[in-house]
Amino acid sequence: MTATIIDGKAFAAKVRAQVADHVSKIKAERGEAPGLAVVLVGEDPASQVYVRNKGTQTVEVGMKSIEYKLDASTPQNELVALIHKLNADPEVHGILVQLPLPGHLNSDLVINTIDPAKDVDGFHISNVGLLGTGQKSMVPCTPLGCLMMLRDHHGSLAGMNAVVVGRSNIVGKPMAQLLLGDSCTVTIAHSKTKDLGAVCRGADILVAAVGRPEMVTGEWVKPGATVIDVGINRIERDGKTKLVGDVHFESAAKVAGAITPVPGGVGPMTIACLLANTLTAYCRAKGLPEPKGLTA
Ligand code: GUN
Repeated sequence: MTATIIDGKAFAAKVRAQVADHVSKIKAERGEAPGLAVVLVGEDPASQVYVRNKGTQTVEVGMKSIEYKLDASTPQNELVALIHKLNADPEVHGILVQLPLPGHLNSDLVINTIDPAKDVDGFHISNVGLLGTGQKSMVPCTPLGCLMMLRDHHGSLAGMNAVVVGRSNIVGKPMAQLLLGDSCTVTIAHSKTKDLGAVCRGADILVAAVGRPEMVTGEWVKPGATVIDVGINRIERDGKTKLVGDVHFESAAKVAGAITPVPGGVGPMTIACLLANTLTAYCRAKGLPEPKGLTA
């Protein structure tokens, strides 16, 4: 078997086009645009790239992008004061504080200072609780992107066995909640799971989010399964830097029914979903109907 490649780059472009279409209608009817504030503290090179891409794509879909670049030594009270200011700003509908934060800052406290209604990352403890209890929430962008691709490929996910490898707050745990919400039978596996290969082989849907390059091989994939690779790992091979996922693509693609590549799979969906979440936050704030197909 050779797997169908799930093209996240094309899917993300479709999501952005849908968002842009909504935003242009909002502008025409209401004379305003949703606004996303992104806060970067320090100069982590990967974070700088993410933040630049977020800003560019926000503007491309017609939204307002507000960027704050703060010194790495910014004290916690200053960052918290900025978030309070953004919470109160009627032109800001989404707030994202880029992680990781420098070590002297308390990430949990900072994230939990964001107004949950503007928490487009879905990291605030209120949104985590709402998602866990099946209530309307802001949903973390990467798992939301994975869910959109799975729904697009399968239609209903009801009754499928889903295995999520990885238990992070950003991907693994919310991914499991979303799959449960779509009536999958969900297993969360991790580095201490006994016979991880056997657990993975039981999956109709296998989501790899462990941060270990090419850990999931074809031997761990059930024939015909759908494999979603959340990993983005830079490795050195043949003297070159290469981007690989948590899945060994070549071997897994021989067994799977469908698979996301790295790059060009889950990655592009994350920012597309951030834009979708900002639009959703705007619509909720204004009491407008939520955009269809762009939320969980
Ligand atoms: N750093 C890496 N990914 C993310 C993300 O999705 N949100 C935030 N806030 N920081 C990140």
